[in-house]
Amino acid sequence: MITNPKDSAAARSRLDPEPIPRRDFLGLAAVWAAATAALFALGGILRLPKAAVLPSPSKKFRVVLPETLPEGEAFLPPRRSVALFRDAEGVFAVSTICTHLGCIVKAEADGFHCPCHGSAFAKDGAVLRGPAPKALPWLAVTREGSGIYVVDEGKTVPLGTRAEA
Ligand code: FES
Repeated sequence: MITNPKDSAAARSRLDPEPIPRRDFLGLAAVWAAATAALFALGGILRLPKAAVLPSPSKKFRVVLPETLPEGEAFLPPRRSVALFRDAEGVFAVSTICTHLGCIVKAEADGFHCPCHGSAFAKDGAVLRGPAPKALPWLAVTREGSGIYVVDEGKTVPLGTRAEA
């Protein structure tokens, strides 16, 4: 029974907003809250840190070895996954990408240690402790000038292959 004549559907103008029942309003508010939360979550996902590997225009790069580099000590060119060594027989480069699952190994006094699952390698790349299934590969190095070398990260060479020092 309609007591107020203004409450009848006929009395309301087409432009008057229809009153929203409380339950519908709460439902809509919940949907909007969920949509807003999903939007913020998506924004957070898009801002997650990217992989630490930088895209490189070329696998080949030039490096200048310090004249004072002691024999048997690794030289790590910045932003490259390579360690260079100088010894009595010449200069060689070892990849620092772990042969287990591809983490970058850390150069230590006794060789390389992988921070991911504990593999250890000698300075020549040989596996000292697993789970790495094989040695760190040696990479192609060529001498370009006095103290200047070109390393090709995309080309492996047989173990023991050195460039002239
Ligand atoms: S990636 Fe190096 S031990 Fe697993």
